[in-house]
Amino acid sequence: MQALFQKLFTIPGSDTPPRYQGNKSDGNWTDGKLIGNDDSANYPVVGGIPLFLGESEKTDYPKSDSISGDNNITGEELIHSNWKIMRTDPDIDRLYNDWAQTILDTNGKILELTAGQGGGLAPLLLDYDADIQLLIHGVDFRILKGLKELIDSDGNWKSVGITQFDASRCPIKSDSFEAINSFIAISNMRRTGGVLSEIRRILRPGGRLFMLDFEIIPDSLEQLPDSVLKKMAEFDPDFDKNYKSRLTEAGFGIEYFSLTEDHPVQPRENCLADIAARHNVQLKMQAFRMEARKPINIDFDNHPFSADSIP
Ligand SMILES: C[S@@+](CC[C@H](N)C(=O)[O-])C[C@H]1O[C@@H](n2cnc3c(N)ncnc32)[C@H](O)[C@@H]1O
Repeated sequence: MQALFQKLFTIPGSDTPPRYQGNKSDGNWTDGKLIGNDDSANYPVVGGIPLFLGESEKTDYPKSDSISGDNNITGEELIHSNWKIMRTDPDIDRLYNDWAQTILDTNGKILELTAGQGGGLAPLLLDYDADIQLLIHGVDFRILKGLKELIDSDGNWKSVGITQFDASRCPIKSDSFEAINSFIAISNMRRTGGVLSEIRRILRPGGRLFMLDFEIIPDSLEQLPDSVLKKMAEFDPDFDKNYKSRLTEAGFGIEYFSLTEDHPVQPRENCLADIAARHNVQLKMQAFRMEARKPINIDFDNHPFSADSIP
């Protein structure tokens, strides 16, 4: 793990910075473990990747999250092919160029949330600027290992870290990132409410969340049987709320929202659509792009230049 990101980590659910015990190379963590103050917390670092998911949490993610190939291509080869497509396909460049540039213009640390085997927007961001400070997050260790090998093999991307954690319990200090990107990630997450408040916490004041994601077209819910609605609520209790409301409730200011026709949802791309499809129901969803900002809250009463402080 790049020294650049090491100082951002905390023991999950606390503000405690972990102690690293293990090997290092050029100051970067390689293989070892992260422990808390009372030695009760103990998280492995394997091949430079800090792993914050406990054994019980790992079973909590849908099967579709695991790395997968088919008879012709291994999961690892698929990661390489996905990255190549993202970096060379002119249609991808046309669709996402502006968006990637806006993220790069934030000029700070960037978190790619649940990059998956597609890498999210990471391949494009690194293609446009090899020097960005990018932390890539995920849950499946084989995907993360594959991404790490790919990144190390390039050799030009020196400020990229990789880590594994549950996004509803980020092991990251508050106010750490200038930009967090969700490329079809948040809409696939369990416990979305907890994820949004964690995202807000770890963004710097004034920092922005960027999303390309899916939400349900409300009319289509009326056609779903109760049994399917129940399954969806088990996955995400807020599944019937749109993301503008969810983010506003989580304390973000919405700065940009647009529906996009370019990205029709496939059941395999969205867990809720997948749940519905398994009950032979087609859930209608729409893709959207959104930018939401964590407000800068100035504590005027205790500000050094408050009226009271003027003699
Ligand atoms: C559709 S995938 C992300 C796709 C990816 N951005 C890409 O470009 O390939 C959504 C991921 O969110 C993960 N996930 C679900 N709940 C999560 C949580 N609470 N914390 C972290 N990841 C979660 C799932 O395991 C799944 O891998």
